[in-house]
Amino acid sequence: MGVLTYLPLVLTLGLSPTTRAVGYQPMQPIPFSHAVHAGKLGIDCRYCHTTVETAAFAAIPPTQTCLNCHAAIRSESPQLELMRTSYREGTPVSWVKVHDLPDFVYFNHSAHVNKGVACQTCHGQINEMEEVRQDQPLSMAWCLECHRAPEDYLRPREQVTSMSWDALASTGKNQAALGTELAAEYHVPSQQFMTSCTTCHR
Ligand code: HEC
Ligand code: HEC
Ligand code: HEC
Ligand code: HEC
Ligand code: HEC
Repeated sequence: MGVLTYLPLVLTLGLSPTTRAVGYQPMQPIPFSHAVHAGKLGIDCRYCHTTVETAAFAAIPPTQTCLNCHAAIRSESPQLELMRTSYREGTPVSWVKVHDLPDFVYFNHSAHVNKGVACQTCHGQINEMEEVRQDQPLSMAWCLECHRAPEDYLRPREQVTSMSWDALASTGKNQAALGTELAAEYHVPSQQFMTSCTTCHR
């Protein structure tokens, strides 16, 4: 639905046109910890979120992915009771969605990740979170701040899942210089395209 048809609906029905606030942190049905899995164990984000480089949506892992390890590790843990039920009955775990843009905004993970925009830039220190919380506003102004000057944020593609990458420490160049090189190398579109209404509202 386009913004122009959506907006009157928002006003008449009183729907909320905004995303949730920074800090939103719902309880999850299984106490799955990113601090343990992505932090302490160092499992790469893409092991579980397998579609981030190929699709708009970042896939949430199916129960089978957990079983790759938990068939043997902590297989009797009471914390994993729901995971075992999910596997036995073939019903997916009802994870609660944390980040949720309004439907009239188009977003695509692969477009960003393949151009060197990092998970950390938009999701914060996920590797330290016991429960995932929203780290950035995800507002239109926030999106546009980067779309007007993506060179302030770009890193080499191979570093998009790193939670500690730093331009100067890793490459000896400052962010502005490196980002400008990468924007050219990766063919980041013109500012006109990046800030056009129809790029995000289609
Ligand atoms: C880079 C992406 C992006 C671009 C470009 C963009 N928008 Fe948005 N827009 C958003 C996001 C994200 C939201 C949702 C904001 C929220 O939930 O807080 C939004 C929300 C809106 C809303 C709903 C009211 C509001 O302010 O939350 C309107 C109206 C709107 N945009 C119009 C426009 C127009 C007109 C343009 C072109 C001048 C434009 N947008 C360009 C991302 C974008
Ligand atoms: C072992 C599997 C696994 C790994 C590794 C993993 N995640 Fe997750 N992730 C999950 C599961 C399961 C959920 C859903 C439950 C939750 O929100 O905690 C999730 C949820 C998320 C969410 C919130 C999704 C929403 O609902 O909005 C984000 C963001 C996220 N992960 C980012 C990352 C990043 C970044 C990394 C790498 C640093 C990573 N994840 C590594 C399994 C994993
Ligand atoms: C690559 C292996 C691996 C994968 C995949 C994995 N885990 Fe784990 N998980 C571990 C290890 C190892 C531990 C123990 C870590 C520790 O205590 O230091 C653990 C601990 C846990 C615990 C705490 C259990 C307890 O009794 O303390 C929970 C809950 C958990 N994992 C849930 C999940 C879920 C849900 C998934 C799938 C989304 C998943 N894990 C995927 C390796 C994995
Ligand atoms: C440019 C910002 C940005 C980057 C980079 C980014 N994300 Fe997201 N992520 C978002 C937004 C915005 C949403 C909410 C999307 C929606 O509601 O349509 C989201 C949602 C998610 C979700 C929930 C499922 C979904 O697609 O709605 C997961 C899981 C996730 N991100 C993981 C990751 C991982 C892992 C990476 C790095 C490989 C990453 N994200 C990189 C902004 C980003
Ligand atoms: C930190 C930087 C950054 C942030 C934050 C960011 N973007 Fe982007 N975005 C980019 C870059 C770089 C590209 C160029 C990707 C390409 O070349 O296709 C892009 C491209 C896009 C495109 C075009 C992709 C396509 O498939 O045509 C859309 C749509 C988009 N962004 C939406 C959003 C929305 C919505 C938000 C906020 C919720 C957002 N972006 C936040 C950096 C960012």
